[in-house]
Amino acid sequence: MNILAFESSCDETAASVVRDGREILSSVVASQIATHRLYGGVVPEIASRQHVEAISGLCTEALKQANCSLEQIDAIAVTYAPGLIGALLVGVNFAKGLAIARGLPLIPVHHLRGHIAANYPAHPDLAPPFLCLVASGGHSHIVRVEDYTHFTVLGRTRDDAAGEAFDKTARALGFPYPGGIAIDKAAKQGNPNAIHFPRPKVDGSLYDFSFSGLKTAVLNYLHHAEQVGETICKEDVAASFQNAVVDMLSHHFLSAANNTDSHVLVLAGGVVANSALRERIEKECAQSGRTLYMPPLSICGDNAAMIGAQAFYEWEAGTRADADLNAFANVEIG
Ligand code: KG4
Ligand code: ZN
Repeated sequence: MNILAFESSCDETAASVVRDGREILSSVVASQIATHRLYGGVVPEIASRQHVEAISGLCTEALKQANCSLEQIDAIAVTYAPGLIGALLVGVNFAKGLAIARGLPLIPVHHLRGHIAANYPAHPDLAPPFLCLVASGGHSHIVRVEDYTHFTVLGRTRDDAAGEAFDKTARALGFPYPGGIAIDKAAKQGNPNAIHFPRPKVDGSLYDFSFSGLKTAVLNYLHHAEQVGETICKEDVAASFQNAVVDMLSHHFLSAANNTDSHVLVLAGGVVANSALRERIEKECAQSGRTLYMPPLSICGDNAAMIGAQAFYEWEAGTRADADLNAFANVEIG
């Protein structure tokens, strides 16, 4: 089954053709990063406009690269939630129009389910159930993937997402948007134990995260240094901040794995491109005899192949949408 999928939930417009959820025939992404970088973050109105400009050309390109005509497409899939509402609406309306015009079924896909499904084409032997850490710019979840379309959230962030903490800290350090990759790079030259930043815990919860206190601790450290005229080493700040985030994500994820007796662990979302996080979890899994699956770096960030992959399983579970499909800024993964 060939699915033509679209993604436009934030600052990447993407189209892809995926066969049977596991084979990526094409995946094209138009990034808006260069535009949003001028403002230090995503400007929703600009994002929507750029999606409108890009989506039709990307659709043509995805079909061309897949060596496919629309006659060979069996269904259309699209991210309908969560994300920036104006941005999501562009993908949803384009997908709807195409589905209606061609008489094709329409499959709505949750963005975070898509991030998890990014692992399926890369790892043919991977199948649920497994425990997944989903860390992106907007979400940080520990999720038990019961089967392809049933999810139980064990932990989540109570405030900032991990990616948001990376981006805000990077901004304070004067690094360009999006900050995660800049911090990752700077941290390689720094000492992760130079500054002890807090690892906040959430009262009464084993697996929930709180990153906003950590971000504030970095800001306070920078303001204090500025006030007393102290020169800071950006690389040390980046490495020490990153070390705290990696400690928190890996600690909660591994204790959830322990307590739920989960032996297959999976990473998903833009933040899992982080080299220190991948190394740490890889090492801990090797020590505890767990099997770990990570998406290749090329598919950690937003793309439409992950939407096409998840769409196949949504289709098998009977998920369909029609002309009244709407976009939603917030919808639970479960
Ligand atoms: O999943 P994603 O592409 O978009 C959302 O769904 O939000 O995640 C984007 C987030 C951004 O916050 C970005 O800074 C972060 O992923 N990110 C990283 C790295 N690469 C991207 N964070 C830490 N280290 C990285 N190497
Ligand atoms: Zn994403």
